[in-house]
Amino acid sequence: MHKVTDRRSSSPVRRVPVCAPVLDGRERAYVLDALDSGWVSSQGEYLDRFEQAWARACGAAHGVACCNGTAALHLALKALGVGPGDEVLIPAFTLIASANMIHLAGAKPVLVDVRPDTWCIDPRRIREKITPRTRAIMPVHMYGHPCDMDPILAIAREHGLYVIEDAAQAHGATYQGRPVGGFGDAACFSFYGNKIITCGEGGMVLAQDAAVAEQLRLLRNQAFGPVRFVHDEMGFNYRLTNLQAAIGLAQVERIQEKLARKRAIAERYDALLKDVEGLRRPVELRGCRNVYWMYGVVLEEGFGCERGATMSRLAERGVETRSFFIPMNQQPVFDGRDPHRLDLRGRYPVSEHLGASGLYLPSGEGLTEAEQEYVVEQLRACQR
Ligand SMILES: Cc1ncc(COP(=O)(O)O)c(C=O)c1O
Repeated sequence: MHKVTDRRSSSPVRRVPVCAPVLDGRERAYVLDALDSGWVSSQGEYLDRFEQAWARACGAAHGVACCNGTAALHLALKALGVGPGDEVLIPAFTLIASANMIHLAGAKPVLVDVRPDTWCIDPRRIREKITPRTRAIMPVHMYGHPCDMDPILAIAREHGLYVIEDAAQAHGATYQGRPVGGFGDAACFSFYGNKIITCGEGGMVLAQDAAVAEQLRLLRNQAFGPVRFVHDEMGFNYRLTNLQAAIGLAQVERIQEKLARKRAIAERYDALLKDVEGLRRPVELRGCRNVYWMYGVVLEEGFGCERGATMSRLAERGVETRSFFIPMNQQPVFDGRDPHRLDLRGRYPVSEHLGASGLYLPSGEGLTEAEQEYVVEQLRACQR
């Protein structure tokens, strides 16, 4: 049996974390520099550099940093004027932040099922959900695979809808050669600790339009107007600090290395898992670059061990995993039990199947070959 080293304690225990941040660039130097400069709050050189560097990397004209990806979604909706009476289409299979932020903005989330291969919103199911109230589509680039943007953008153009990309999980993914984050009227990123680029906590909205960027900046900072303490609209404190931006900038500088490591991990898993019966692996459609933020697998009947039991057995052997998201139509908070609660119930068979059968394997950038072999050995042992 392999002995797997816990990198934090360097003791020979068998523990493989699902994802741990790697901060091996100039993070420390930049944070110390920011500290020494005294610019520790929400203004400073690192904020400007981080916003510009990430917008440039994604082919967007403007970047507006904020405190997390959830706030980024709220800001994007508010800056585009999405609100009461509006409907926003989202995949049923997503993190709850998508639905919550639409609700918080006063609009109504409307669910669309996802594709069984990429786990992203299914463009063939979008039209049937469009009503006169539909204002925007919010595609989520799931687990690192880009959404099929051409048909989404075509439908949006045809119906005069905004596109707000949720790229929280897909830093560096490309579609037809262009990075995600540069397609929508706005695009939202998370820089939480498990993301490909992290600030610890952080987020950013990218936009092509200067007026949208200006509105994002205004709303991020309490909607302070030209006359101090006179506010024409309701804003928020969604600011990011210069210290967090210092970490983010150092991370962006190493994006290509990070993506190469993620790809190498995915290729190794692909090779090790290709003959495992009843296990579906992530795909990479033609014209797309999947960045494999998390290496997800779906356990079909042929696998021979159900998802919960598989995760428990792996946990007993020190292998951390996470189950896939539970779809929005199955969330207790959206069961419409009283008139104040959203009712998102309905049938979304692909999302439900993924939610019941998917899990992701350890996928951190620092994962070693020996750790991956150990993970796969333990996964295979669940079948016996
Ligand atoms: C698809 C998606 N959207 C939004 C978010 C929210 O980001 P944050 O955790 O930074 O608020 C996440 C976080 O993982 C996410 O996966």
